[in-house]
Amino acid sequence: MARLLLVSNRLPVTVKAEKDAVSVGRSAGGLATGLSRPHERSGGLWIGWPGDVSRLTDAQRTQVEKQLSDLRCVPLYLSASEVSRFYEGYSNRVLWPLCHYMLDRVPRQDRDWDAYRKANERFADLAAKHYQPGDTIWVHDYQLMLVPGMLRKRLPQARIGYFHHIPFPSSEIFSTLPRRAELLEGLLGADLIGFHTVSYVRHFSGTLLRHLGLDTNIDRVLFQGREVRVGAFPMGIDSAAFESLAQEPAVLDEVKTLHGRAQGERLLVGIDRLDYTKGIPRRLLAVQRVLERDPSLRGRLRFIQVAVPSRTQVQAYAEYRETVDELVGRINGLYGTVHSTPVHYLYRSLNEKQLVSLYRGADVMLVTPVRDGMNLVAKEFCAARPDEDGVLVLSEFAGAAAEMRDALLVNPYDVEDMADAIEQALKMPQPERQARMRGLRAGVKARDVHWWVASFLDRLQGLPSQAEKPPLPDGMAALDTLKGLGRKVLFLDYDGTLVGFAPTPELAAPDAELMTLLQELCARPDLSVHIVSGRPRETLEAWFGELPVGLHAEHGLWSRMRRGQPWQALPGVSFEWKPKVKAVLDAFAARVTGSFVEEKTASLAWHYRKVDAEFGALQARELRLLLFEQFSQEPMHILPGDRVVEVRPKGVNKGRVVPEVLKQEGPDVRVLALGDDVTDEDLFAAVPPGGIAVHAGNKDTRAGYRVEGPPGVRQLLKGLLGK
Ligand code: UDP
Ligand code: G6P
Repeated sequence: MARLLLVSNRLPVTVKAEKDAVSVGRSAGGLATGLSRPHERSGGLWIGWPGDVSRLTDAQRTQVEKQLSDLRCVPLYLSASEVSRFYEGYSNRVLWPLCHYMLDRVPRQDRDWDAYRKANERFADLAAKHYQPGDTIWVHDYQLMLVPGMLRKRLPQARIGYFHHIPFPSSEIFSTLPRRAELLEGLLGADLIGFHTVSYVRHFSGTLLRHLGLDTNIDRVLFQGREVRVGAFPMGIDSAAFESLAQEPAVLDEVKTLHGRAQGERLLVGIDRLDYTKGIPRRLLAVQRVLERDPSLRGRLRFIQVAVPSRTQVQAYAEYRETVDELVGRINGLYGTVHSTPVHYLYRSLNEKQLVSLYRGADVMLVTPVRDGMNLVAKEFCAARPDEDGVLVLSEFAGAAAEMRDALLVNPYDVEDMADAIEQALKMPQPERQARMRGLRAGVKARDVHWWVASFLDRLQGLPSQAEKPPLPDGMAALDTLKGLGRKVLFLDYDGTLVGFAPTPELAAPDAELMTLLQELCARPDLSVHIVSGRPRETLEAWFGELPVGLHAEHGLWSRMRRGQPWQALPGVSFEWKPKVKAVLDAFAARVTGSFVEEKTASLAWHYRKVDAEFGALQARELRLLLFEQFSQEPMHILPGDRVVEVRPKGVNKGRVVPEVLKQEGPDVRVLALGDDVTDEDLFAAVPPGGIAVHAGNKDTRAGYRVEGPPGVRQLLKGLLGK
């Protein structure tokens, strides 16, 4: 069994210094509480920050380190400046509100990025230091988004997972981050990237497409020659542990006391870190509305709200605390009596027994965040109800809502809706409460935290490791093989290989440097040059007609073997399907603004380079499906390309050019083929033994070598000239 290295900003335990005594206590927050027990069960290490230790004496630090080491925790101490700039700054002033759709809370200036990057380097260094071959590294959460990429550089062969515990917002939101590309590339260092819900996966894939031009194919995306998987893994809790705690005599006694003191009052409960994403003010207003609407409930309803202190040095949290304090005071002032206080507000953390007693004693649990990655409190509440009673009121905007459909789902921005739900919960007949709670508990038990860990790690560990799939050697290394080997025939794709992509096909004309390079290649007696493109004859003729090169248009349908020779078509190709397919493509061009149809003699292409990346990809998928459905009997191929869908006659592909050209060459020639797109894979397949295929880009390829786009291709060609 592979050893597991967990890496997260916060360790599951935090150092607590009280006067002279020092101890470690459990950390609050879903990540730490959720992963604690799986960590206890595994034999691995957990690397992270144990909280502020600046005031500890050396002796106390040694004592803490001993305790941490017993828990297999490796501390990474953050300096005061790192706490304020990396943790409070970029992590919690920028990424946290942004991922929770709160753009107005993000500071105007991106001052702490540098500190974020440097702190991520420190985490990556420490993880790399503890890494042993065969280990699995699992990086957690938004504070460490660059760590997977940094680890990939340090440990190219390692198995690396990343889990994002908070929402991944729509690309419209993520796009506002000046450092969006670096963050995305950081995540793509992982082999598997996990989110709580399919919506977050969709948002992430859309963002990759928009900013890095990477198209996710169901659950995988190619990045720098590696296949990265993405998936939804809804986090669970240790339901068995909560269930058994909920049956302990001490907890049952506490519940009895709670109910006794309540003297018949119905109990509403809310438990959250004091965080502005948790929707506490609107929840309080909803309770106020219930009391306003139904005077008979006054004195018969108590709302216990536990707010666990969190990120207290961040101003937004301090302000939020004031807002909550004021609201609590106002409601108690309005609806309190000498005998009862409607809102019972606790600003502190609870131990597990107190927590579970509240879950077990609640009539209604209010979990109404305005946005939450998952929300484990909702699940813990259900696990702590073996009596199959209690009603869960849950926000639609918590990741948990995707699974917990038996809860009363509410819009946390709609105070009236929440008040209605509270009333419905209070009036709900026992059989309905039981039926709903049974459904909820079944889900919580089936998908508990151990299931979550196992499903993530099984997927991660089941992937072919980078060690089994070494990266392709650099194309420049191919030069050594070719040097001094007599006559060589070059097959060069044009777009994406000799030149980069431009917004329209006409704009990607050859530049002066390329023309000189081609002239010099043609001038070499040991080289024969062929351009094999999807472009029409006219274009190739206009651009390269005067060069002594072979030209092959429309993926090899048309060939002009030498300068001055006529163009000849491949025999026996049928085009009858063309007008029918053109009508479909025209309809797509009309409906997708910015897209257009290109017509060649034999083929048709629908280009969507200028269309919004996500929308374009979606439409391209739909178009392909439609074409497959309608024309599956026709002798044609439907080919997805780089922001283009092409339809070509069957029997025509770039690979057919190779034997035709070689017929005209002597026996001992070597082939060098260069291309970047799927259509070039046919070319590569046709390269005879002893030849070399070089892929210009980061896609999956059958080529034996790789270079980085057109600049890499040009460098290689110059190398061939001995430059
Ligand atoms: N929790 C805690 N101490 C408390 C109250 C709650 O550790 O005093 C735990 C709670 O049991 C839950 C976690 O904090 O596991 C909160 O996780 P959740 O996913 O609900 O929200 P997060 O705090 O991660 O945003
Ligand atoms: C959320 C985050 C965690 C974080 C926790 C507590 O659950 O997803 O990464 O640890 O809140 O916040 P803190 O800032 O105290 O670590």
